[in-house]
Amino acid sequence: MVTTKVTPQARAVNNQPLKKHLEFELALEFLRVVEDAAIASAKTMGQGNRKHADQVAVEAMRRTMDTVHMQGTIVIGEGERDEAPMLYIGERVGAPQQDGMSFPEVDIAVDPLEGTNLCATGSPGAITVLAASERHGLLHAPDCYMEKLVVGPSCKGACDLDAPVAENLKAIARRLDRDVEDLVIVVLDRPRHEKLVADIRAAGARIRLIGDGDLSAGIAAAVIGTGVHAVFGSGGAPEGVITAAALRCLNGEILARLVVNTPELEERVAKMGITDSKKIYTTRDLAPGRNIIFAATGVTDGALMRGVRFFGEGTRVNSLVMTLETGAIRFVDSIHLEKKPDVKVRFA
Ligand code: FBP
Repeated sequence: MVTTKVTPQARAVNNQPLKKHLEFELALEFLRVVEDAAIASAKTMGQGNRKHADQVAVEAMRRTMDTVHMQGTIVIGEGERDEAPMLYIGERVGAPQQDGMSFPEVDIAVDPLEGTNLCATGSPGAITVLAASERHGLLHAPDCYMEKLVVGPSCKGACDLDAPVAENLKAIARRLDRDVEDLVIVVLDRPRHEKLVADIRAAGARIRLIGDGDLSAGIAAAVIGTGVHAVFGSGGAPEGVITAAALRCLNGEILARLVVNTPELEERVAKMGITDSKKIYTTRDLAPGRNIIFAATGVTDGALMRGVRFFGEGTRVNSLVMTLETGAIRFVDSIHLEKKPDVKVRFA
């Protein structure tokens, strides 16, 4: 991470040997941020109110974010300032100074609750999630759709976003040393994916249609043993950037292209400085940072993390925290205890 200020302590923060230490410290701080958001939104699970579920996640994430020692800037958030009261794009977050010491500048992409519907209906796969990097380490993607093709480490370089679906499936199957019929491809269950689904079926691969949550599906595709071999189809571009940050840490791959299909969108994208709206983005284009931190907590049960469990004497949460430079993938099982006199902790 890069610092900007002048105190001796601040200069010390810039020292190379401290960088890894900083990445580690920030990762643990971001763990608190996603945990708090998950606990807040999990309390609304099944209430049928996705807006409220999202709102409490946003408020909790924002609150805890401001206790993290950093000069944070939201680069992907809840929308522009006039659309969102907090975690809006460009908002400064964090506790930037203490005792004359200033803290690192960090760009942050948040999805305070991915799968608002999933939480509101108590369905699997809702998570709270963020990615962070040094300045300019995450693409400032517009809030539009993005075509995505996500695969794990074994399939890096095997696919082409413009190739026919059947060819990509064959390439994935070859790399995974199995038949196309053995593959499981995750696709968002949307009318816009009718042809994609028909093509995958015609090629013989199996499909898992999901109601929401192509970000967590993308992470699962990069982890062996989750039963997900790839994610195909279009979803949110902001989710695509956060997926890319996770994939940098997991050595997976995303190929992506913005879906710019109206003159208004064309204009908005041009205003953001994107000159080629048809560009195919790689994982590194979306998340070019050298220091990347990714943190997510399960709200409802998912492939990689269990959902939040309240057990009277406390709360148990499962998270995934990853740091690129230090090469650490942490599956964290946290128990937050209520301060009751006879509190008991169970192993699993
Ligand atoms: P929310 O976090 O707003 O609930 O959206 C989840 C999600 O399913 C993402 O995972 C996905 O990228 C996007 O929405 C797809 O958008 P749409 O629902 O418009 O197809």
